[in-house]
Amino acid sequence: MIASATHPDPPPKPKLWGGRFAAEPAPEMDRLNRSLPVDLRLWREDVAGSQAWASAIAAAGVLTHAEWLRLQAGLDAVAARLEGWTADDWRAAHDEDVHSLVERLLYEEAGDVAGKLHTGRSRNDQVATDSRLWALGAVARLDAAVRELQRALLEQAEAHRGTVMPSYTHMQRAQPVSAAHWFLSHAWPLARDRERLGQARDRVAVLPLGSGAVAGCPFPVDRVLLKETLGFHAVSRNSIDAVADRDWVAELLFVGAAVGMHLSRLAEDLVVFGSQEWGFVRFSDRFSTGSSLMPQKRNPDAMELARGKAGRLIGNLTGILTVLKGLPSGYNKDLQEDKEALFDTFDTLQALLPAVAGTVRTLELNAERCAAAVDAGMLATDLADFLVRRGMPFREAHGAVGRLVRTAEETGCSVDELDRAIFLEVSPHFADADLAHLFSPAASLAARAGIGGTAPDAVREQIAALRQVL
Ligand code: ARG
Repeated sequence: MIASATHPDPPPKPKLWGGRFAAEPAPEMDRLNRSLPVDLRLWREDVAGSQAWASAIAAAGVLTHAEWLRLQAGLDAVAARLEGWTADDWRAAHDEDVHSLVERLLYEEAGDVAGKLHTGRSRNDQVATDSRLWALGAVARLDAAVRELQRALLEQAEAHRGTVMPSYTHMQRAQPVSAAHWFLSHAWPLARDRERLGQARDRVAVLPLGSGAVAGCPFPVDRVLLKETLGFHAVSRNSIDAVADRDWVAELLFVGAAVGMHLSRLAEDLVVFGSQEWGFVRFSDRFSTGSSLMPQKRNPDAMELARGKAGRLIGNLTGILTVLKGLPSGYNKDLQEDKEALFDTFDTLQALLPAVAGTVRTLELNAERCAAAVDAGMLATDLADFLVRRGMPFREAHGAVGRLVRTAEETGCSVDELDRAIFLEVSPHFADADLAHLFSPAASLAARAGIGGTAPDAVREQIAALRQVL
């Protein structure tokens, strides 16, 4: 037992429960049941929730003013003590969970009045309140980290408005695009993730405190005031649901999994673009790793970890959904499993996002390699579009240009190297065609000028639109 400075003779360790038991839990039971190693990070929220609860039950007539003051001061002292705890102090604490720990320390700091704090409250509404409060902070931090990555993508896009590169479908060269357009293509999914995060946040910000164990609180606490004190936006409407609802955890884990999935797609593009076969990008020394055996290696480990961590993030989502499926109504101890997944998703992304943003911000795009990868075949659609403008139905134009591509392949040259005579065989419209213009990637880009297209003006508007959401 840790002796406190203010109470040299601390009262015996209070028990949260146990009156009806003749024996202590078995060590095996305790090891399985204890959640303190995971939920210890909720101590600030537990203290804040307890202070708000003390005020609520004081206003409901459960505490005298003097008792209320002693509890507030005691909780302040608990917070000050925990603030100073070292890793060793935390390892030495053997309480069942963070709520038991805070209550034990409160006994040490405030004496017997500590036993009044839990009036009308259960760990069931308490843990739901603590974790929602924690999640509100975590959501804000995650949003900021995702925004940083969007900024990095935007900076690269602005630097590469004039760089042409291939776009791919089926991993085959498709049509030329600006590199800016490619960078931005990875910023928009993140914009949707941030939207989802904001919507999920509304459902996180619902106060469960005051639901008791399951049936509600028998003392006249003002839950609307509690909600305002703690910074929630709404009050839960059904106590049975409130203590068992972890939809919000599943939603946050979905958003986390979606961010992970988006990072993994960006990462996969960059791993490929960084390989010698492509050579489109070179990662900075600070975001590359070497090989212990091959001296020449320069590996994109941050990108590979981004791809790998997506598996873990998706695992956390499927884990919580599986825990929730089939649970009977009300609180069940299964729900204790929610926090490890929740914390892991946020910790994983908080480690991953800055490294991905740093990788993107510091990578060098090789404009020559990008441009060199745009071959004449990638302008086949533009040739077909030319015939369409001359009145040919698109299907026919597609077939005609397809024949040109086949002839080029059979001849062993690229389409733009074919004799004009061969173009004329395919269609008389090619008689006065400006072939140099038709085979110009810049012209191909410029033609796609509508909203969302890759033309320089459209990309300029796209950048402005992205700036709006940043
Ligand atoms: N450690 C528990 C959890 O995380 C707190 C709630 C426990 N409630 C109970 N009735 N045993 O869910």
